[in-house]
This record gives sequence, C-alpha cells and structure tokens, in this order.
Amino acid sequence: MIDFIAYIFGCNKIIFMPSKVIARENWSKIGFLMATIGSAVGLGNIWRFPYIVGSHGGGAFLIPYTISIIIFGIPLMMLELDAGRKFKGSVVTTLKQINRRFWLLGILAPIVSLSILSYYLVISGWTLGYFIFSVTGYMEFSQFTNSLLPLLYFAITLAITAFIVSKGIKKGIEKASMILMPILFVVLIGLAAYALQMPGASDGLAFYLTPDFSYLFDPNIWLMSISQAFFSLSVGYGILITYGSHLSKETRIGRSVLGVAGADALIAFIGGLIIFPIVFSFGINPSAGTELSFIALPTVFGSMPFGMLIGLLFFFLLFIAALTSSISMLELGAANFIDELKWSRKKSVAFLSSIIFVVGIPSALSFYGGGISFMGKPFIDFMDIFFGTLLMLSAALLCIAVIWFYRPKVFDVKNKLLEKIKASSIMIFLLKYIIPIALFILFVVELLSGGGGH
Ligand code: PFF
Repeated sequence: MIDFIAYIFGCNKIIFMPSKVIARENWSKIGFLMATIGSAVGLGNIWRFPYIVGSHGGGAFLIPYTISIIIFGIPLMMLELDAGRKFKGSVVTTLKQINRRFWLLGILAPIVSLSILSYYLVISGWTLGYFIFSVTGYMEFSQFTNSLLPLLYFAITLAITAFIVSKGIKKGIEKASMILMPILFVVLIGLAAYALQMPGASDGLAFYLTPDFSYLFDPNIWLMSISQAFFSLSVGYGILITYGSHLSKETRIGRSVLGVAGADALIAFIGGLIIFPIVFSFGINPSAGTELSFIALPTVFGSMPFGMLIGLLFFFLLFIAALTSSISMLELGAANFIDELKWSRKKSVAFLSSIIFVVGIPSALSFYGGGISFMGKPFIDFMDIFFGTLLMLSAALLCIAVIWFYRPKVFDVKNKLLEKIKASSIMIFLLKYIIPIALFILFVVELLSGGGGH
C-alpha cells in the first residue's frame, strides 16, 4: 500500500527507476485470439450495434462502420499490440519506456477503463439477474432496479471476473476465453436460426438492413460509427497494449487483428439477426439497450414458444459477452500493479476489485429508493457520459504518445502487395494525424453535447 501511495504522490519510482523486465506468461495463438475477441465482443455488439444500424440508415450504416473499422480501428489495434509486445508491460510500463514523462498518461488510461468497468459490471450483473429470472420468473425492471438485487449481482459478477483474472493469463483469462467464446458463438447461431424462422423475420430484416443512403450525408452517422468502432473493438483503452505484452514473437499481428475485427463485426451483425426478427414478430418497439433487453424482450419471452429456453440463452449470451469484456478491463488495471509495483497478481486483483466495488455501489443503486443521481442524471448515466467522453481524450493522447515517440516495427511489412499499395505508410499517416484528430473531434462533440456515452 505504501509503495502504491508513494507511486501516486512521490512518483520517484516512475521517474528514476527503469522498469525491470520480468518473465511473462505468453498466450497460445488461439488463446490470444479468443481472449481478444472476448474483449471486443460485449454488450456493445449485442445490444447497441443492431439498434444503431436499424435506426440510422439500415444497411447503409454498414458502409461508414466498415470504413471506421478499417481506417480507425485496425491501425490503432496493430499499434497497441505491437507496443505491448515490444515493451512487454502494462500501459504504464509501456508508456514510461517510450518516454519517462508519459507516466501520467499511463495512469490516466487505466483509471478511465476501471471507472468504465465499475458500471459495465453493474449492467453485466443485470444480465446475470435476468438469466436467473428466466427460470424463476421475470421481475419487472423498475422493481428490480429499485431493490438491492442489482448490488448483489454486481458483486457476484465482479467476484467471477476477479477470480478469473487472479488465475493469470494462461490458467485464467486464456482458459476462460477458450471455453466461453465457442459457447457464445454456438448460442448466438442457435438463437439467430430460431429468430429467422419467426413470422416477423422478413419485416425485421427489412428494418435492419434496408439501406437508406441519405443517412450517409449526416456527419453524426460518421461520428457515431467511429465511436462505435472504437468501443466495440476495445481499442484506445490500452487493453491491447496489455494483451500484446503477452504475445510471442511469432504471432503475426496484422493477421490476428483482421481476425479479431472480422469476428467482432460478424458477431455484432448476427446480434441484429436475433433482435429484429423477434422484435417485429411481436410488434414491440425496436428500441435500444436497457429498454429492449430488460423490459420488452422479457415480456416476449414470457409468451413465445420455447420462451423460457430462448430467454435463458439470450441472457446467458449477454452475460458471457459482458464477462469476457470485463475480464479484459480488470486485467488492464491489474497489470500495472503487477509490472510496476511488483505486487502479486492476487493482491493486485483483490485491491482493485475492492476499489471497483466501492466505486460501483452508487451505479448499482442508481434507481434504488429515491435513486442516486449526480448533476441531474442517474449516477450510472453520469458515469457513462463522463468517462465515455474522457475516454476519447485519453485514447487520442495514447495514440499520439505511442506513434510519435516509438517507431512501431509492425508496419515494416515485407509484403510485396502491401508495399505496392503503401499500406504501412498510409497506416502511419492515419495514426499520426487522422486518428488523433478524429478522437479529439469526438471528445469535443461529446463534451459540447453533454456526451452520448455508451
Ligand atoms: N468492446 C466491448 C463491447 O463492445 O461491449 C466494450 C469494451 C470492453 C470496451 C473492454 C473496452 C474494453 F476495454
């Protein structure tokens, strides 16, 4: 604890002591892919993406989204992974090695992510609660959030996340991802197959996918697609630096990134193939997130054939998706304590989890009794808006710090085709100018508009 306080206030360790490089666990190839896809695939894919597509131009939205993934997501993913692999350390360790003065930024990134985790876990807890309700009978959402149950499920979800992260890279995160991700995929496909044979499937698909190209002239669509791409790929948080630090030399970063981005986009797309056929078959409002998942769909599951099983699978899917994302955020934080303060993994995870629990309490109780609000918003919404906005700034600074002060090897591709189309130099140009500028614009827009949050 004392070294932690000295670290924060004295900073002498940061400025004068070079980090020791300690032996690190390395991912297996497939384990790395599963863990990284697990981080990317989360609530953002299944409850946010389909709604954004459906209400912002249908199939036409896929154009800015795909462009955002290629132009903004993929280069930054490659950069983060490469820097992590090169410096073999957490975000703080990596940034300090790039330039000693970057330690503050190194601390900002995990603070933002861990704050996001504190309420992301609350929502993950809701999905766990509804998973259980699918067997015991659904509780009305307002009644649920007005009870202490959200706090209980938040604590359970945090404990599961902490348990997995405390087991380490190979025996914890890799093992859990290798089990959970294939299950997620099978459940996803099963639910989509079921949904697509429902009577309203074609209307649902028409709403989801009919392109309305007039939307492409709305700059908001472009901003929204960029921010969704960052959020969905978990890029800009520093997670990929942390995950990259356990990558072996042999892993081809370019290929892995294409695999992760492709899987993430595909899973988000299939999410829509589940949601909209159900929504249209039962004539409910195709709304987003909370309202859809916890209010409209439970009613539908109560009255459809095999509704109990479908509800059970749906909430299980949401829970697994949220859990593997939460794991990555906690690992991002814990790695700094392990690498910088040389704390044991268990101690780091226990310490961080206790803080996250305390910080998450007001979010979990945002609607309990008279509710807990801050600056006129339910606390959980305030957290989402505040840290969702701050994230854009921290991501921009992270990108600038790494690309301007460290020449990443990953872009020195000896590949004739890539050389010909100058892919590497285009990517470096994007990273140096376009991506930070886009992130700054998103930061300012969210700041001025009061933040859309996530
Ligand atoms: N990518 C996750 C989602 O789509 O829900 C969210 C996320 C997870 C963002 C982990 C950032 C992160 F570090």
